[in-house]
Amino acid sequence: MSYDFDTIVDRRITGSIKYANVPEGQLPFTIADSDFLVAPAIQKALVDRTSYRLYGYARPPREFNESFLQWFARTYNQSLREEWLVPLPGIVPALAVAAKVRDGKCITNVPNYGMLLSGPKRAGKELIAVPMKYTVSDDNIEYYEFDFARLEAAVTEDTDIFYLCNPHNPVGRVYTREELQQVSDFARRHNLVVVSDEIHCEILFDRAHIPFHTVDDYAREHSITFTAPGKTYSIPGIGGAFAIIPNAELRERFQAEGYALGRPNAFGVAAMIAAYRDCDDWKQELVAYLRENRDYLENEVRRRFPKARQTHTQGTYLGWIDFGAYTGSGPQEKWIARQAQVLFHGAEFFYGEQHIRWNFAAPRALLTEALDRLQEAFDRAEK
Ligand SMILES: Cc1ncc(COP(=O)(O)O)c(C=O)c1O
Repeated sequence: MSYDFDTIVDRRITGSIKYANVPEGQLPFTIADSDFLVAPAIQKALVDRTSYRLYGYARPPREFNESFLQWFARTYNQSLREEWLVPLPGIVPALAVAAKVRDGKCITNVPNYGMLLSGPKRAGKELIAVPMKYTVSDDNIEYYEFDFARLEAAVTEDTDIFYLCNPHNPVGRVYTREELQQVSDFARRHNLVVVSDEIHCEILFDRAHIPFHTVDDYAREHSITFTAPGKTYSIPGIGGAFAIIPNAELRERFQAEGYALGRPNAFGVAAMIAAYRDCDDWKQELVAYLRENRDYLENEVRRRFPKARQTHTQGTYLGWIDFGAYTGSGPQEKWIARQAQVLFHGAEFFYGEQHIRWNFAAPRALLTEALDRLQEAFDRAEK
């Protein structure tokens, strides 16, 4: 390892949302950003950019689109057309705008990322939320999958957008080609546009990521894919994202509805170029570290807390764990915060039940500390 992910850095001095208002002594594993310092290449790009004391309106340089197109070609072995790209300041506001590219209702599966669920509603749309299927495999691995029978039963004549999250926050699934084909078939049957949020697409442990628009012709012509370097490269506070919209009419509608979104700022542009162009080796080490964190956490939860239920994380740095057997039936995150001084997101934000979401993009020593505190609190409660 040439990069250091083990050192615990003080994030409070940057106004980090994760640490804001968290009393000393409590350990947060909440909002989905990482506790790691950025790659040196990103720091250099930002220092170089700020060293020119010129921060006026600017067009992104040619390397902006180019670095992303080349990253895509390198990663997926296929190319994107430059005109398909719509640069964005971030994905959250774009999730709301995407709901306006059609006039009817939206449908999605839950649990799902809270801002993906609130986006359509903020745009004044009705959202049909369909629970996923919780499955236990023969080798005792727990995971979620699409419940197409329920989706078929829930979809209405006037539904015209499907929201997909892949890799899926919070349940950690990386969908297979067959599953994504089923999503495309479902969308075709009901004439839906698919809005695919792929921000976690570089944090992968078990299988490759398949961009939704590459699944088939229908998917290409009826989809809006969002992706961004924020999660992977630890720069979500700088902002910057891309929409990939191959269909010209859909793209124009999105751009018209999203006029007020704006574009990435000068520093976002500099950081994104460096992330997509210069950070492959850093990312490789990051993902290796996160894979070890994933394995460590899943093994330790199994060993220390045999009554807990946890889904297996295939991608994202998020664990989805049910500690209800230890905490009782109320909100688990509240019990754990009180009794163990460890902070997690509760299930409610995701329209889920009886789980906490554990962001494990943190130095391993912090995971150990949290596991020890949980064990102590659960032992105390059982006495
Ligand atoms: C699935 C998903 N989409 C989008 C975002 C946020 O995107 P952005 O920071 O570009 O607004 C997050 C952050 O947690 C996320 O998990």
